[in-house]
Amino acid sequence: MKYQVKNLKSYFNIQDKAINNPEKFWKKIAKEFSWQTKWNQVLDYDMHKAEIKWFDGGELNMSENCIDRHLKLRGDKTAIIFEPNDPKEKEQHISYKQLHEEVSKMANILKGQGVEKGDRVCVYLPMIPELAYTVLACARIGAIHSVVFAGFSANALSSRINDSSCKLVVTADGSYRGDKQIDLKSIVDKALTNCNTVKSVVLVKRTGQKLDFQHGRDLWYHDLKKEVDDHCDPVIVKSEDPLFILYTSGSTGKPKGMVHTTAGYMVYSAYTFKNVFQYEEEDVYWCTADIGWITGHSYIIYGPLLNGATTVMFEGVPSYPNYNRFWEIVEKYGVNQFYTAPTAIRSLAKQDVKFVEQHDLSSLKVLGTVGEPINEEAWNWYYNHVGKEKCPIVDTWWQTETGGIMISPIPFSTPTKATYATFPLPGVQPALMDADGKELEGRLVKGSLCIKFPWPGIARTIWGNHQRYINTYFKQYPGMYFTGDGALRDPAGYYRITGRVDDVIIVSGHNLGTAPIENAINEHSKVAECAIVGYPHEVKGNALYGFITLKKDCSESEQDQLKKEINVLIADSIGPIARLSRIQFSDGLPKTRSGKIMRRILRKIAAGELNDLGDISTLLNPDCVEEIIKNRQ
Ligand code: WTA
Repeated sequence: MKYQVKNLKSYFNIQDKAINNPEKFWKKIAKEFSWQTKWNQVLDYDMHKAEIKWFDGGELNMSENCIDRHLKLRGDKTAIIFEPNDPKEKEQHISYKQLHEEVSKMANILKGQGVEKGDRVCVYLPMIPELAYTVLACARIGAIHSVVFAGFSANALSSRINDSSCKLVVTADGSYRGDKQIDLKSIVDKALTNCNTVKSVVLVKRTGQKLDFQHGRDLWYHDLKKEVDDHCDPVIVKSEDPLFILYTSGSTGKPKGMVHTTAGYMVYSAYTFKNVFQYEEEDVYWCTADIGWITGHSYIIYGPLLNGATTVMFEGVPSYPNYNRFWEIVEKYGVNQFYTAPTAIRSLAKQDVKFVEQHDLSSLKVLGTVGEPINEEAWNWYYNHVGKEKCPIVDTWWQTETGGIMISPIPFSTPTKATYATFPLPGVQPALMDADGKELEGRLVKGSLCIKFPWPGIARTIWGNHQRYINTYFKQYPGMYFTGDGALRDPAGYYRITGRVDDVIIVSGHNLGTAPIENAINEHSKVAECAIVGYPHEVKGNALYGFITLKKDCSESEQDQLKKEINVLIADSIGPIARLSRIQFSDGLPKTRSGKIMRRILRKIAAGELNDLGDISTLLNPDCVEEIIKNRQ
């Protein structure tokens, strides 16, 4: 691929080219893909209106670029290795040829159900090959996939289905996660009781568990598969036609359906994959994320397949049947690049180091992390015990909205530094902003992280609400994209991401907005009001602490019962990942004179930073602070 970074000097050189002439830079990379029609204009943008177009006028198909383009050279090469939850179950090696067949069949199944270009398809599947087939099948026929992480509740699922009026849902009877079996189909049934745009449900058999089959709506995938052809011509779409919608939590309001379009996302995910992982033709690459998140979209499916790579797809969890599972898989397939989340690293670092040492990890070349800041201890453990001090760690900073990695070391080129994401990737122009909206120049500064210039992978809008897209990302710092993160720049020009500057809390790498959780709690008839804050947690990075006032006092045993009920409400409304680790009932919550809850104080109390509460004398009700501190959980 053009502009591949090979050493630090070439990084600076390439970054200069990308900044001085972005159109020429991205055009040269884009040329390596397969186009039906070439673009008229590489870039057209207005950062104030949040209107960004890359490769406008071009026509192409994403699945053709991921699969068909490789058939001649790599037809028999393994595209996907599927490693099941249960190590006793046989793995699958799916070649590019087989992938072509499976995706074509799935595409014909979708077409048979009336799915057309531009229609939305909801994908609620466990990490099984059919998930990749469905995503690529949508891309093949120009339908827009909306993958919903299969750990979300029925309510969360139905609100996502309704927001983008999905026509069809692809799901499974159940899923395996460690020693648990989850009844996916009944979650879908419950969700669909209030989704009237969904006409059919395609059902993949995974667990074989009993289910309530609804004739006229539900269809077995294995039955449909027998009837369809294994050839399906790719539907040609425009560069700026949407490829997918992926929901992400904001600090307020309902989840935002981030829309990614075809050509820019393709070029960006492919280029960043190749450079950040320094992928070589025979390498085996493994990203442990779930395809329900952006990391899985860009770096399990699209980025790797666009590069003709072999990508591992793992159904299970790091602790099942034992804490050596990740390392066993690395050894089994000779994994060369391994990409995971700090939460997973922290939980594994707590186990006996023999779990790592009993495996031959010599195949590893590059280690990656994503999703949240990685603390120094976890970084060192990863570097020393997994990488044996020879594998660079790429601490990759990016977001659902950015489509691909934005700030990261390039292995073997950028010297790594624990907890630093280091340099922006070629074409990325970060800026740190102060509270007055001025850009902080120079080194050794700390501020809000913005991006000054468009890159091809940026989301184009929020589904159905462009104004919200503008308000959320382009209003605070006019002319720039605002990330919602804080960062600092060190004397070498390295960036370190310090965490969210808004009310999004990242728990085990999952973004959670406080507002939807608070809304769920407020549904309880005994709750008067509440505030959720995050506090540091050894393994999860952050955990959730809920401060709740009740309408009427209740006894201790009633309180225990209430805590359970509140967590059930949260699990039903969002999913088990949003449950509170600590709940404290109090008579009042600290408020400003205008009646706003002072979360800053609650955050300090939750974190145990009691000597650092700041001035509380201006509060409406300073007395409640003392009571809250006294009863801290
Ligand atoms: C956080 C995940 C520190 C950040 C790809 C961002 C990180 C949010 C890092 C996006 C990192 C992601 N260091 N923080 N290397 N990577 N984040 O949308 O707060 O699920 O805004 O995308 O995760 O999370 P999302």
